[in-house]
Amino acid sequence: MTYIEAAEAPAGRSNMIKLHGPEGFEGMRKAGRLAAQCLDMLCPYMKPGVDTGALDDLAREFMLDHGALPACLYYRGYPKTLCISSNHVVCHGIPGGKRLKEGDIANIDVTLILDGWHGDCSRTFAIGKVKRRARRLIDITYEALQRGIAAVRPGARLGDIGHAIQSYAEAERCSVVRDFCGHGLGRVFHDAPNVLHYGRPGTGIELREGMFFTIEPMLNLGRPDVKILSDGWTAVTRDRSLSAQFEHSLGVTADGAEVFTKSPAGLDNPAAPAGA
Ligand code: MF3
Ligand code: CO
Ligand code: CO
Repeated sequence: MTYIEAAEAPAGRSNMIKLHGPEGFEGMRKAGRLAAQCLDMLCPYMKPGVDTGALDDLAREFMLDHGALPACLYYRGYPKTLCISSNHVVCHGIPGGKRLKEGDIANIDVTLILDGWHGDCSRTFAIGKVKRRARRLIDITYEALQRGIAAVRPGARLGDIGHAIQSYAEAERCSVVRDFCGHGLGRVFHDAPNVLHYGRPGTGIELREGMFFTIEPMLNLGRPDVKILSDGWTAVTRDRSLSAQFEHSLGVTADGAEVFTKSPAGLDNPAAPAGA
């Protein structure tokens, strides 16, 4: 695996891992913050009866109002701005023609482009009052992401991130989805490297200062296996067990990670009891 100064890298996805400097960090800080603010804006709407198509419209208007572009819209033919994935939907649920109901859990994944830089983040919401096992899955998935982020520092390896997530999730009797992973990002949406949410410590490529990537674990209450529905996008658990996800975009700093998509309003885990 080779690394390349981002300024010298060819545009577009490549197998080389881009290392970014201060301008990259500044661009990602702005894009990440706006993506988090978009999720913050949606929080009050995440109530029983909300129409998923209306959430998509709100998000797209928010992005355009703030000088950003919806990164998912028409990306590889994807038809909407958001991904909204509820209950046994693992990821890439297509908004529209559906209302969320009391007891659902629903992940909203926001990706926008601001001044050419991508902000990509997601949170799982509890709709009204949810069952204790649903609440628990959300909290374990949130904590799994925090543990993955805590493993990020120069000299650590990608396998350390995967191991931190997998060992925690499985100790809590949840399974880690294998079919989707985190990814490098920056001016490119899905770039090298793939960031797996399972793995062995000390394996995989070495993290270096200036790398940008997402960590976005999907955890299931049942088996890890997924299938894609006939719309070509919606990924669901094969055993129809509940699935949750959280995602942040981050940069590797001299001594750890800078999370670009932290909620300015403190709503990173919107299902957490107030003040937690
Ligand atoms: N935001 C998703 C991710 O975390 C990607 C969605 S791609 C789409 O990588 F086309 F489904 F929108
Ligand atoms: Co992502
Ligand atoms: Co995403």
